Amino acid sequence: MSVPLSGERSPIAQHVAIIMDGNGRWAKRQGLPRAEGHRRGVLALKDIVKAAKPRQIKYLTVYAFSTENWRRPQAEIDVLMDLLVEFLDSEIAELRSQGVRLSAIGHLEELPERCQQKLAEGMAATRQGHDLSLTLALNYGSRREIVDAARQLAEAAQRGEIQPAEISDALFSAHLSTKDLPDPDLIIRPSGEWRLSNFLLWQAAYAEIYSTEVLWPDFDAAQLDLALAAFARRERRYGAVSSRDGGS
Ligand code: IPE
Ligand code: IPE
Ligand code: MG
Repeated sequence: MSVPLSGERSPIAQHVAIIMDGNGRWAKRQGLPRAEGHRRGVLALKDIVKAAKPRQIKYLTVYAFSTENWRRPQAEIDVLMDLLVEFLDSEIAELRSQGVRLSAIGHLEELPERCQQKLAEGMAATRQGHDLSLTLALNYGSRREIVDAARQLAEAAQRGEIQPAEISDALFSAHLSTKDLPDPDLIIRPSGEWRLSNFLLWQAAYAEIYSTEVLWPDFDAAQLDLALAAFARRERRYGAVSSRDGGS
């Protein structure tokens, strides 16, 4: 999506993206297995989904499994995939009643069959949701997404359907998996890290980044309010001079 006019100050974050990190550290601190951290992470997600609408968030995108997370032990990957299925099994009716529309980005076709099936069911069942768009990033990696888009455009050019000179920011964005979403206004990373870990690299061009030491399983509505308050205090200049300086 295009870069908005400079000096624009919208205190509301329409699209919030979250890197749900810190489950393992949370479990370690409690002397529990990592799986328990992931289980608690799902509970945190449920709470944040409920908290989104009253805060006027229209799009919530959560990083649940990266293209790099396949490097984890198979047993941990299995736990994460099982939790995804359990989440979808137990929450679809609830999401639907909350007016949530569920979607997913990433190479879903490489996920276990049981996950693909539940995701398809969940997306179909919530298609009419208009209050909040919830996007799960699963087997998602931004570099791969960008390479996919570049390949599609190159193939279209090779077939003579587009001219290379026609490739613009907008056309490129339209070939990303996030084509139906506005760019994120705010990216939240719990657990004290300050990196994007291959999440929404293109889309984050002008996102405000918020990092907190709180670990994802402890992230609740009060933490979300802190992040949104920090966002409201930021001035998004989009490369222009500060509107506080009169812009001249
Ligand atoms: C995030 O928590 C969950 C996933 C990456 C799927 P982590 O498992 O990365 O937790 P830490 O970083 O080890 O604390
Ligand atoms: C990012 O967390 C991915 C998800 C939260 C799904 P990681 O724990 O995988 O990221 P790194 O390894 O610390 O960069
Ligand atoms: Mg981590």
